Amino acid sequence: MARKLMAMTLPKKMTAIRAEGEKGAVRLVTAEIPVPSPGPGQVLFKVATGGVNRADLLQVEGHHPPPPGAPETPGLEASGTVVAVGQGVTHVREGQEICALLPGGGYAEYAIATEACVLPVPKGVSLKDAGGLPEVYFTVWSNVFDVARLKPGESFLVHGGSSGIGTAAIQLMHARGHRVFTTAGSAEKCAACVALGADRAINYRTEDYVEIVKKEMGGKGVDVILDMVGGDYVMRNLQSLARQGRVVNVAYQKGAKVEVDFRLVQGKLLTLAATGLRGRPDTEKAPIRDAVEKEVWPLIEAGRIRPVTYKVLPLGEAGAAHQIMRESRHIGKILLEP
Ligand SMILES: NC(=O)c1ccc[n+]([C@@H]2O[C@H](COP(=O)([O-])OP(=O)(O)OC[C@H]3O[C@@H](n4cnc5c(N)ncnc54)[C@H](OP(=O)(O)O)[C@@H]3O)[C@@H](O)[C@H]2O)c1
Repeated sequence: MARKLMAMTLPKKMTAIRAEGEKGAVRLVTAEIPVPSPGPGQVLFKVATGGVNRADLLQVEGHHPPPPGAPETPGLEASGTVVAVGQGVTHVREGQEICALLPGGGYAEYAIATEACVLPVPKGVSLKDAGGLPEVYFTVWSNVFDVARLKPGESFLVHGGSSGIGTAAIQLMHARGHRVFTTAGSAEKCAACVALGADRAINYRTEDYVEIVKKEMGGKGVDVILDMVGGDYVMRNLQSLARQGRVVNVAYQKGAKVEVDFRLVQGKLLTLAATGLRGRPDTEKAPIRDAVEKEVWPLIEAGRIRPVTYKVLPLGEAGAAHQIMRESRHIGKILLEP
């Protein structure tokens, strides 16, 4: 009866965000679009908040197109309440509060997630704050542990410590007992990183991270680096790594085409990797979801990691949210609330 009632009261149309205009002069506007219905293995949920990610800025400018089958509406993560489930969904039920990694569509009143990418809201976290958890923890966990294989006792450097990714990575590695270095672009951001658990936050505008990391590590260097900067950081990362160190790039804000001196890689037995999350199949995302739920969620529930929400803006102010991120005024996550 409850299932029927919920399905019957669903509206046919919803408000979603659409990008309008030429490259370089794109505006984010609200549009009325059909409420999607969940296919096999999918759930439909009423969005509480959707997280803003830097990839969304690239997408609306036409640089990061949605993968085949994904909605045109931006939004790679959201939280909310499940209102309908598709065939074959076994672990998620109507009425449940969830957060989920999405291939797109989070900037809307309703969104579709595949069951493989759905997580419960950690106990003690508000439904609103939960909208900013999936993208950062899927990304940080899979890159630092699956790809870079950070081992107990090893040291860690994450660039962009005040970003969504950085604030998550600092807290997770600190909670797991690793020595944490990070870089950020102001004294205020560095202080925020230290408050989150960084042992040393390096102001990259006034300090040289290669020198500092080497000095603080007794000349040895750091074991694992998570980088989103690229450009000249590629070689500087290699200089900062310890013997058998690993670096994984998730973005290239200073450029993706660089010259690498492989004698340094060979001499120190280093490993370089680069990954993307969005285009990967659910069969690869589901094990990441499982690991995040098993390894990260208990730390959140124990209060050792907290969501870092910078600002919650109404969905209609998506353009203003993008402007904050473009100018890098934020520390942590920016969320949109329908
Ligand atoms: N490959 C993947 O699967 C994947 C998944 C998620 C995110 N990402 C990428 O990861 C990055 C972070 O994502 P986000 O959504 O958390 O974005 P975000 O909050 O906007 O973070 C970008 C950060 O980069 C920092 N930054 C820029 N130039 C820097 C430099 N020279 N040195 C150190 N830091 C610098 C900025 O900090 P300052 O203000 O201090 O400069 C800012 O904190 C984005 O580039 C995103 O595209 C990739």
